[in-house]
Amino acid sequence: MLASIAVLSLLALFVLSWLRGKGSRESGLPPGPPTLPIIGNIHQLPTKFAYLRFTEWSKQYGGIFSLKLASQTIIVISSPRLIRDFMDKRSGSMGDRPPSRLPDITTNGLSLPLASGPVWKSLRRAVQQLLTREACSRHMPIQQAEATQLMYDLLKQPENFFNHIQRQMISIMLSTVFGFRSPRYADSAASIFFSQFNTNGRLYLNQALIPQSTLYLHWNIIDQREKLGLTRDMVGYLGGVCIEGGSATTAAYLHRFVLCISCYPDVQARAQREIDDLIGSNRVPTSQDIEHLPYIQAIIKEVHRFYTSGPLGLPHATTIDETIDGYFIPKGSTVFMNIYGIYHSEELCERPEVFNPERYLSSEFGTKPNADTTGLRSDLHFGSGRRICPGNHLANSSIIMNIMNLLWGFDFTIADAANRDRHIPIRPEDFTTGIAIGPKPFKCNIRPRSEKHAALICEAYAQARPTLSMFEQELTPSEQKFVEDW
Ligand code: HEM
Ligand SMILES: *[C@@H]1O[C@H](CO)[C@@H](O)[C@H](O)[C@H]1NC(C)=O
Repeated sequence: MLASIAVLSLLALFVLSWLRGKGSRESGLPPGPPTLPIIGNIHQLPTKFAYLRFTEWSKQYGGIFSLKLASQTIIVISSPRLIRDFMDKRSGSMGDRPPSRLPDITTNGLSLPLASGPVWKSLRRAVQQLLTREACSRHMPIQQAEATQLMYDLLKQPENFFNHIQRQMISIMLSTVFGFRSPRYADSAASIFFSQFNTNGRLYLNQALIPQSTLYLHWNIIDQREKLGLTRDMVGYLGGVCIEGGSATTAAYLHRFVLCISCYPDVQARAQREIDDLIGSNRVPTSQDIEHLPYIQAIIKEVHRFYTSGPLGLPHATTIDETIDGYFIPKGSTVFMNIYGIYHSEELCERPEVFNPERYLSSEFGTKPNADTTGLRSDLHFGSGRRICPGNHLANSSIIMNIMNLLWGFDFTIADAANRDRHIPIRPEDFTTGIAIGPKPFKCNIRPRSEKHAALICEAYAQARPTLSMFEQELTPSEQKFVEDW
């Protein structure tokens, strides 16, 4: 979602300003690459992997630089201090999104990530109610049960790990939002959502897919729809946004984790030693264990750093004229935070191109000694200011649970011999450019670490079944049969 929206927004900006354009950089703007008359920097903008070009430019022009797309101003910030002082602290004047006609046509302006003004306020209030830290603790049992099913799925059908991971994340979002789950991938609500969203880019959840049972009313939003100022249509879009935004990003994260852990066997072995010392093979991990697993915490941060789901976040837009560090930022500028550039900055980070969790053991933000860490925070990959990702707590707890489970229960090895000795391909062409950035499908051998682990996984799945079945009121007959046989 993030990457495609970013590209769509750039495209729309380009179209909007094409006719108005003059293209030159007004004095007072931050520096940037030289412009051409009328088009500005349009000719230099890549259609793919814009974050790589932005990162190159940030090395040349610094922590804040500007681009002109005809008359439109783009500001790119690659300095944690400026993100804090500008995007977080002045969030009120930075919290808009750039005008983007293309997405508007497909979502009637009702898509939360793109919306602005009162519509955004209503949608944002609704989604926050659903995803506060407290609300997330109510979602814990189903998240935990789904994470248990993932282990069981991997035990039974390891070669399909890509889809099992996607299914789990979609199913969690369906359960939290609507109170029904998707027990398998093939022929399911999960795969329908994925293919529909992927093909037409619409974030709309078809009304017909909203279940009629009373269970989904645990989502107060439907109860309180009028009080929150939401129309029925807005609720539909909100559901779609959560399912797409929540599942694609988190699934891409777990895919990257599997890739990293199988390409770096030393990291895997060390993490397994840590988890074995704490947990052993007589029980499965629980969410409290993470506090006692510093190396695994470091792995979680390193996977975010190494290749983040949304390298440029989503574009913000300014609603008033602003100045920062002596530069003038006109009202209506589009502002990107270059998360990728910060995570791969050689000034901040020792050998940023290497997957090395240890960097987070020697410093809080994984930076090298004497680096200037002003403004850094541990959740930069979730965005900034009042637009910060509202799903951050949910994503964080799912990631923690899954990663402990997977490292505890399984050994991962890259299946294809040619790749076995090749350390992580950081080559961008190995990653998707779609909804959220993750590796393209790859082969990986996933084996339970012992008979004992396998038996415990089966037992844990049996114990999770009652929690899962609370969300299975609306299964189709074939899904029902699947659940009974699986
Ligand atoms: C690893 C997982 C995730 C990552 C890396 C991620 C990242 C992001 C980023 C960078 C933004 C843009 C923030 C900004 O504009 O400054 C965002 C926005 C958003 N995310 Fe996430 N996200 C993740 C998971 C989730 C989940 C689980 C949900 C659940 C519903 C979610 C829902 C949203 C929504 C609705 C927005 C738009 C917020 C707004 O415009 O006000 N995301 N996310
Ligand atoms: C994720 O959760 C862990 C454990 O509760 C916490 O220590 C960490 O700060 C959280 N990370 C983010 C980015 O919210």
